[in-house]
Amino acid sequence: MEKSILIIGACGQIGTELTLALRETYGNDSVIASDIREGNENLMESGPFEILDATDYDALEEVVAYYEISEVYLMAAMLSATAEKFPMRAWNLNMNSLFNVLNLAKEKKIDKIFWPSSIAVFGPNTPKENTPQSTIMEPSTVYGISKQSGERWCDYYFHKFGVDVRSIRYPGLISWKTMPGGGTTDYAVEIYHKALAEKSYTCFLKADTELPMMFMDDAIKATLQLMDTDAENVKVRSSYNLSAMNFTPSQMAESIQKHITDFKISYEPDFRQAIADSWPSSINDQEARRDWGWKADFDLEKTTKEMLENLAP
Ligand SMILES: NC(=O)c1ccc[n+]([C@@H]2O[C@H](COP(=O)([O-])OP(=O)(O)OC[C@H]3O[C@@H](n4cnc5c(N)ncnc54)[C@H](O)[C@@H]3O)[C@@H](O)[C@H]2O)c1
Repeated sequence: MEKSILIIGACGQIGTELTLALRETYGNDSVIASDIREGNENLMESGPFEILDATDYDALEEVVAYYEISEVYLMAAMLSATAEKFPMRAWNLNMNSLFNVLNLAKEKKIDKIFWPSSIAVFGPNTPKENTPQSTIMEPSTVYGISKQSGERWCDYYFHKFGVDVRSIRYPGLISWKTMPGGGTTDYAVEIYHKALAEKSYTCFLKADTELPMMFMDDAIKATLQLMDTDAENVKVRSSYNLSAMNFTPSQMAESIQKHITDFKISYEPDFRQAIADSWPSSINDQEARRDWGWKADFDLEKTTKEMLENLAP
């Protein structure tokens, strides 16, 4: 039977580009986008769209039956900075949406799931440099706690019920097609918009806060690659570490100054500094390289060039 894919949270920063990439690979009508709100023109005009609340099991089951869905990409979530403000709403959305999808697979109504985790699963006691796949994980944020719990449930559903669920711990993602949705690494997108519009940016993190980051094309490539891998080669069923580049806000500013020489950056750290301080500065992704041949294409210089070229008026 032909593959039929449902993306939940398709109008967000990742969902938008993921939907377009999947439509290009599998055909527009085989990829159903859904969200609680409408997305941008490209997304809405390129294929089927449904308004769907990920926490509503009955509505989800109905859409899955109607389109004979075989694979679900669950991208709906409340991100790190927003989740600190609304802890119970974040827990409810991040956990119940995942249970809904895992239970659909347990009931054999779908065959395969992609669910993203994050570097936020790590915490202040995790080794910060070259953070390994398996290590101390004591997340200190609402978002991190929900992602770590989600990982344990994915692993549990795989071992207990044979659910084919696959996951990546995305680092901070940089993209130009859609704005980020309330995370701690949002500065790494805002900075390019401000550099072009105002030639200056006030960063909400300190100059020397090093974090793992990735350009969106790499994140999409990794997601499609992991979902295409034969099931027996997917050895990690919690979530894979994934790495591309690490940099600080001041290094990012320097890379922009190579193109916009009079660009200026200043620093006014806010509550997001504490979140960033609890996260790793670099990630060891040897398992992803070994199991499904992962290799990133974009470093900071290439990312800056791509962002400035595409955002320029
Ligand atoms: N962007 C990043 O840097 C990053 C990094 C690590 C992990 N992630 C994870 O990747 C996933 C997608 O992130 P994103 O950056 O695209 O987020 P986003 O905030 O840009 O998009 C999330 C989408 O989910 C939708 N949504 C919210 N509540 C919903 C509900 N009840 N039902 C259906 N849809 C709902 C929103 O309308 C939004 O379009 C999330 O799980 C996030 O935790 C993102």
